[in-house]
Amino acid sequence: MKPKPSLIPRFNLDYGLNDLFCSINSILKKNNFDLSVLESIFNKNIFFTNNGRSALYVILKALNLPKGSKIGVPLYSCTVVFDAIVEAGYVPYFIDIELDNYTLSPCDLESKVEGIDAVVVIHTFGYPAEMDTIKKVASNKPVIEDCAHSLLSRYKGKITGVLSFASFFSFKKYTSTGEGGMIILNEDKSKEQIQKELNLLNMPSKVEEIYSSFVTYIHSFLYHKPWFGLLAFPMGSYVGNSNLNKRKFKATKIKKSDLSVFLKKITDFEKKVEQQRKNTKILTEELKDSSLIILHESKDVWWNCYLFPIQFESKNRRDKAHKLLREMDIDTAKLYSTTPRVAKKIYGYKGDCPNSEKCAETLLVIPNYYTLKYQELLKIAKSIRKVEELI
Ligand SMILES: Cc1ncc(COP(=O)(O)O)c(C=O)c1O
Repeated sequence: MKPKPSLIPRFNLDYGLNDLFCSINSILKKNNFDLSVLESIFNKNIFFTNNGRSALYVILKALNLPKGSKIGVPLYSCTVVFDAIVEAGYVPYFIDIELDNYTLSPCDLESKVEGIDAVVVIHTFGYPAEMDTIKKVASNKPVIEDCAHSLLSRYKGKITGVLSFASFFSFKKYTSTGEGGMIILNEDKSKEQIQKELNLLNMPSKVEEIYSSFVTYIHSFLYHKPWFGLLAFPMGSYVGNSNLNKRKFKATKIKKSDLSVFLKKITDFEKKVEQQRKNTKILTEELKDSSLIILHESKDVWWNCYLFPIQFESKNRRDKAHKLLREMDIDTAKLYSTTPRVAKKIYGYKGDCPNSEKCAETLLVIPNYYTLKYQELLKIAKSIRKVEELI
């Protein structure tokens, strides 16, 4: 691809010099982390790991289910979630999603619930899943919330992460904190078991921490205009799903650097979520008469708008739009588009999740993040309208 200095990145990586200083400072100093902001949000048992997938691994290990137990999980997901299930000694059992909110289908869960031992529910794109119905259908089987996308989203007035037995978060997503994962345990029974699993994890070395902080800073720097279109994108060093065939798994304790940056960012993160909700409203308004299917908040939901998917009628139209938008300087993501294929090849998916397959083929995630300027939002909406005429 020829260099494009005006290319708008698909995702927001917001890790600046002040974050780098905060992180290096925390590596060099002795820390007492102040968890009061997190405790005021979650008010439950809080634990940390090096990333989201490790957090899920720890929760699953702590369940102590027999080896080979089946864990229900939406097929429309990142394959690292399946890796965590496999690493814990279990087998992913794929459940379909609903087409109106892209989260786990209570109806498909009902038809498969007999065959599973626990279920992972993903609040995909930050949009809360139908938790009440899901918990009813799951009955006495443990339900785990995957909140990797849903920091601060709410379901029926309650924050996601406190709606099930246990939940986990990924710091590198919405808050762009290098790495980092968090477990919220909403009952005390498994506390010791979780702690026991965490004690088995290694501590990252200072050298690893320093290296990772600099890599995160440079990655974020290159993930902005003009460097994104000039260097990062042509070099292929962009955030995406291009490595799904590779299994990546290394569970460790959290890096102090990641935790300190996350704790700094979370203090005023709600303002950024509000901005992202405003941006999403602007895009929704601009695209309202289009042929695209757009995600809307239902009455039970307060959506953090972490990712904004638009749905096309067919794979052909989605793929053409993705290409044309890039020519118009807008980078978009075909999120999880390779998951069904990879899941068939590696994780034993049998082809019984048609809605997930349809979404993998027809959804496009467009930029809506809080750092975008109003003019950029209008350009994104205008370009999508133009592309609609061309495809
Ligand atoms: C829905 C979902 N859950 C969990 C994860 C894992 O988070 P992490 O990258 O922090 O391990 C990801 C992405 O990587 C994801 O998209």
